[in-house]
Amino acid sequence: MLALRIATMRPLRADAAAHPGLALALGTMMAAAAAAIAWAVAAWTEARHVASACSLAAMIAAWWRARPGHGASRGWPPGSLGLRASLAAIDDRSYYRDQAERHGPVFKMSQFGRPVACVVGHERGRRLFAEHAGALAPAKLPYNRLLAKGLLRYMGRDDHRQEAPLFRAILANVDLEAAESSVRAGLRAQLDRLCADSQAIPAGVSPRDYGFRWLAGAVARLFLGVGHDDPRVERIAALLPLLHLHRAGGTAWRRRILDAMAGMTAILREVADDYAAGSPRVAPGSVIALLLAAEPDALDRPARAENMVLIERLATGDLAGLLDWIVLFLGDSPRWRDEVRRHGRTHGGAQSSLPLDPATCVAMETLRLEQSEFVYRRVVAPIAFEGHTIPAGWLLRLCVNESHRDASVHPDPHVFDPARFRDRAWSRNEYSPFGGHAHGCMGGHVALFLARVFVEELAIGYEWTVTADGPHERWSRHRDHWRPNPRRRIAMRARAGAHEDDGVEALAPAS
Ligand code: HEM
Repeated sequence: MLALRIATMRPLRADAAAHPGLALALGTMMAAAAAAIAWAVAAWTEARHVASACSLAAMIAAWWRARPGHGASRGWPPGSLGLRASLAAIDDRSYYRDQAERHGPVFKMSQFGRPVACVVGHERGRRLFAEHAGALAPAKLPYNRLLAKGLLRYMGRDDHRQEAPLFRAILANVDLEAAESSVRAGLRAQLDRLCADSQAIPAGVSPRDYGFRWLAGAVARLFLGVGHDDPRVERIAALLPLLHLHRAGGTAWRRRILDAMAGMTAILREVADDYAAGSPRVAPGSVIALLLAAEPDALDRPARAENMVLIERLATGDLAGLLDWIVLFLGDSPRWRDEVRRHGRTHGGAQSSLPLDPATCVAMETLRLEQSEFVYRRVVAPIAFEGHTIPAGWLLRLCVNESHRDASVHPDPHVFDPARFRDRAWSRNEYSPFGGHAHGCMGGHVALFLARVFVEELAIGYEWTVTADGPHERWSRHRDHWRPNPRRRIAMRARAGAHEDDGVEALAPAS
């Protein structure tokens, strides 16, 4: 009965729907095994005894392991390692928060059988990362195996020291201001298209597709220096979704990723050739221009080229998730739409001086509540921390979202209130959506720049209503992000006179 309940929980149903062939094969095998056991049990008394003893032993072992106090004598943190709790964590938005309330800020759970130590609190997490750096290694996803040295995020210390500084320096210097006009024009083109489509489709349209297409162009402008109307943007928008990084699915998956990587690298090379030929189509302050100026043969080094492609892919993915949430929060907040409209557009790169403009406040508050959820590491040597022992072989999950919802740091923590960011700078122990350790985000300023532009264009230029919705959800893994319901639809229209006299359309797309 319990096995049946577990087998029909949503994460497993979602996987079955995504891989029906595999689900059918596994289901058939399990049904055949169950039938064979049932037949043996009916035919032989000894088999009946053995089966009863085995299932009793399995149930006792599962119960023993699922007890919150399991491992207390060895110093393990409290919390259940049971499979039911593990699956519940995928579907229950407040699972980690509830566990922290019940067991304290360091607790354990399991992700499909693998124990995970969860830590809530930015200060606590930073201390743990600093004091036990040698006991922590990147928690890589399977696609990393397909790369020469791996993704920057997953590199060991030596490779990271070799590869990261150049990318960090380049991303810090990318010329956001020069890209702004092209980025805004590209966004308006997508939002106007959304308006036209939503008028033609009475049920409304999904804003996600338009946000993604804008981002493909905006990130291409920042990384490759090409305008939002460059024909290569369409190719990039088609290739990026094929880089399906959060799954591991055999030969077809592997081939698709390698083909998409090859396609993206070919585009990089085309742009590099344009740059070498002195083409004005490649903007000087873009990532590729800065990379080639620093290292003319950079694209001949697989680790450089692969990371360039994958940073572009991950940046687009993270930002597309963020835009989804911004549309949702801003849609529910007429006050903040008005604040942004009253203030008008802010020009230039990411803003940091107080008081912050309303659009940046909206972006930062959205990141406090959503999209920035966790940081994972693999524990490679036992860790003694705050009276607990975390054994080697476990995963470590720094609970970023839950740390951002601590009422002693952020009053009314579940309320969307961008005003908290207007006049107050928050320390990294209080607000840390981009991490802050050796692998901390290299693109936080890029994210805040693009999010601010998005909030401004959306609020100032458009009105929208929700035509269909459902509960928030996420895909079927603990490391997937929560998102607004995929069936969510909106209808949008342009506000009269919103684009007048702001100078954006008058400027040619940056070349
Ligand atoms: C919603 C937007 C974003 C969020 C919430 C975010 C968050 C993060 C976090 C938490 C990390 C640390 C991961 C770890 O320690 O395991 C990280 C790493 C990284 N991020 Fe972001 N990021 C965002 C957008 C971007 C963008 C736009 C770029 C590039 C322009 C970028 C580039 C990177 C890179 C290169 C790393 C790896 C750094 C390293 O390993 O040295 N991110 N990001």
